Amino acid sequence: MRIEKSFRQFVEEHPNLKYTFFGGKGGVGKTVLAGAAAVGFARLGKRTLLASTNPVHSLSSLLDQDVFGKPTPVEGIPNLWAYEIDTRDTIERSKREIKEKIEWFLRFAEIRTKADEFVESATMNPAFEESAMFENMIDIMFKDEYEVYVFDTAPTANARRLLGMSSVYSLWVDKMIKSRQEAQSLRKLLSYSKDKEEKDPLMEYLVNFRDRMMRAKALLTDDEKTAFFFVTLPEALPIAVIRRFINWFTDFGIPIGGVVVNMLIREEEVGEGAAEFIRNRLTMQQRYMQEIEELFDGLVRALIPLYETEVRGVNMLSRAAEDLFASP
Ligand SMILES: Nc1ncnc2c1ncn2[C@@H]1O[C@H](COP(=O)(O)OP(=O)(O)OP(=O)(O)O)[C@@H](O)[C@H]1O
Ligand SMILES: [Mg+2]
Repeated sequence: MRIEKSFRQFVEEHPNLKYTFFGGKGGVGKTVLAGAAAVGFARLGKRTLLASTNPVHSLSSLLDQDVFGKPTPVEGIPNLWAYEIDTRDTIERSKREIKEKIEWFLRFAEIRTKADEFVESATMNPAFEESAMFENMIDIMFKDEYEVYVFDTAPTANARRLLGMSSVYSLWVDKMIKSRQEAQSLRKLLSYSKDKEEKDPLMEYLVNFRDRMMRAKALLTDDEKTAFFFVTLPEALPIAVIRRFINWFTDFGIPIGGVVVNMLIREEEVGEGAAEFIRNRLTMQQRYMQEIEELFDGLVRALIPLYETEVRGVNMLSRAAEDLFASP
């Protein structure tokens, strides 16, 4: 298959590329390719952070090194740090913040109810955890301590929801702010101690939230700084998954970096005497490669071979990096 623009060419054409994401169906090699990309960026001399927002982490096992809880220099690769975000801690912190806000609001509205029930209903669902992790990712992006960020596992659903909802969010938050302002002035009017200026944490939160979402949207749709890469195998389901992602992302104006095809069996390694199932697999892959060529015309950036073992440790990862950055 002919590659119109390779991963390396894409990177060279985007000198300000800063936020990169790897998405795709489960098990297709997102973590491996995020790791390979990060190694490649570090080798180009860029101060790089490989971060995982996935609650089920695999960076430590990929790198054979504990990178949980804080950005940790990767041994043997200058310029590279890796970081598995502490999901539990992030979620607990978000819960505490929400609890404070609800408690404040109940006091403000003079409702004598314990906040616990409200907090529970606001936080006891998977969407809450997902958005807590998403906010954590945004915080890392805003901190701006690295030249390149590689996020393992694209927050596909969240990015899509965020961008699709962001104008609705803005409207909603503006409306909330307006009604908060009215309530505030009414309260002041009714209050005996008129001149006592009260801080309004709920309002502060809303304004802050709206601004953060707008900043996140600006970064995530900036096609000089951001690129989402999609990993697939030459197989039906992984192709269907990234096809859907690419359509969503196109609709929302999120920049698509391209497609990486992983675990390709090399024809030259399958001899005449190879086992039947290997020859069958090769034929199957070749069929799907045609489909990939038709569906993702001009978007395929790299073809990564199926290695003889799983990808673990920096040596193996460096090899994957070379294949990802190979210029055809
Ligand atoms: N080209 C390859 N050759 C051989 N093994 C590979 C290759 N790419 C990935 N693997 C192996 O396949 C397994 C799955 O890869 P990886 O963990 O990167 O997938 P993932 O998409 O991140 O999975 P998940 O959806 O569970 O996060 C790992 O054991 C990895 O080492
Ligand atoms: Mg993974």
